[in-house]
Amino acid sequence: MSPLNLRRLRQNEHVRSLTREVHVGLDQLIQPLFVAEGGAHPAPIPGLTGVHQDNAESLLRQVERDLGAGVRKFLLFGVPQARSERQIDWSFTAGQVRALKARFGRDLWLATDVCLCSSTPHGHCGVLNAEGDHLDNDASVGELVRAALAYAHAGADCVAPSDMMDGRIAAIRQALDGAGLERTILMSYAVKFHSTLYGPFRVAADSAPKSGAALRDRATYQLDPARPSDAWLCAERDAAEGADILMVKPGLPYLDLLRELSRAIRKPWAVYHVSGEFAALEALAAQGLANRAALHREILTAFRRAGASMIITYGARYARDWLAA
Ligand code: PBG
Ligand code: ZN
Repeated sequence: MSPLNLRRLRQNEHVRSLTREVHVGLDQLIQPLFVAEGGAHPAPIPGLTGVHQDNAESLLRQVERDLGAGVRKFLLFGVPQARSERQIDWSFTAGQVRALKARFGRDLWLATDVCLCSSTPHGHCGVLNAEGDHLDNDASVGELVRAALAYAHAGADCVAPSDMMDGRIAAIRQALDGAGLERTILMSYAVKFHSTLYGPFRVAADSAPKSGAALRDRATYQLDPARPSDAWLCAERDAAEGADILMVKPGLPYLDLLRELSRAIRKPWAVYHVSGEFAALEALAAQGLANRAALHREILTAFRRAGASMIITYGARYARDWLAA
């Protein structure tokens, strides 16, 4: 088996259309989904119009509606009830992947976020060291590999590690290939900054670092916004380790890097228009200070212009109207 599998991104129309390089089209948009174990009702997420933390039942209804709105690509975030940081049980989210693929099959392309922050008691994206002031890289990668395998075995078309540990791309690729899962696409949150724009997401994913921990924020693992060189190091490293798709996150504040990196590194690039960015646009539109459809269209166009092949946006489910307006 070739370690550099270029056919992976040619294997179906979904991913071929994701990797094209012109216009803003519904084909290029990925809708995030949140599903929590044991929720009685879908819970609205503050700031994110029309986005809910679903339960297992409402998730299927939501995806059914989204398919009706022309959305075909999704990024799933699972929020299990139990929390631990070693030998984490990934079966809740894997079960949601299985249910979605059983119900909708190839009608949808399903990426699954791989991280620990919705599962750990402290809300960090990895396993804490004994002192509680740093993440243990290799212990964290071990858990991430198990999660990625569970989701890929359940039928995820793509696994997307968002933790920012070192070496996780190579470790996950090797594990997938070793398990006969060579068609599973690996999307790296390669260039993910330590940003103030993740607030609504952390409500939806129940993943904020808990106060009181020695490690207070994610600055020891996410990138410093004032150090663009690190973006290059991460992107080149993850490309070399076998990521099929690379990501810049957040979007608008980092368009400079999206432009430069996407020209220099010949992989498909995703941009994550993150929760705080999306909420800011919605707040502007809600005050009647901008036309909602035109506002979103303009920003989506900026991402495509800067070199994004695909855009993760909470508004994918409205985009058919926005793009037609
Ligand atoms: C963490 C993760 C984050 C997002 C997705 N996965 C950021 C964080 O909590 O630090 C942000 C997505 C968004 O804000 O829309 N694994
Ligand atoms: Zn995380």
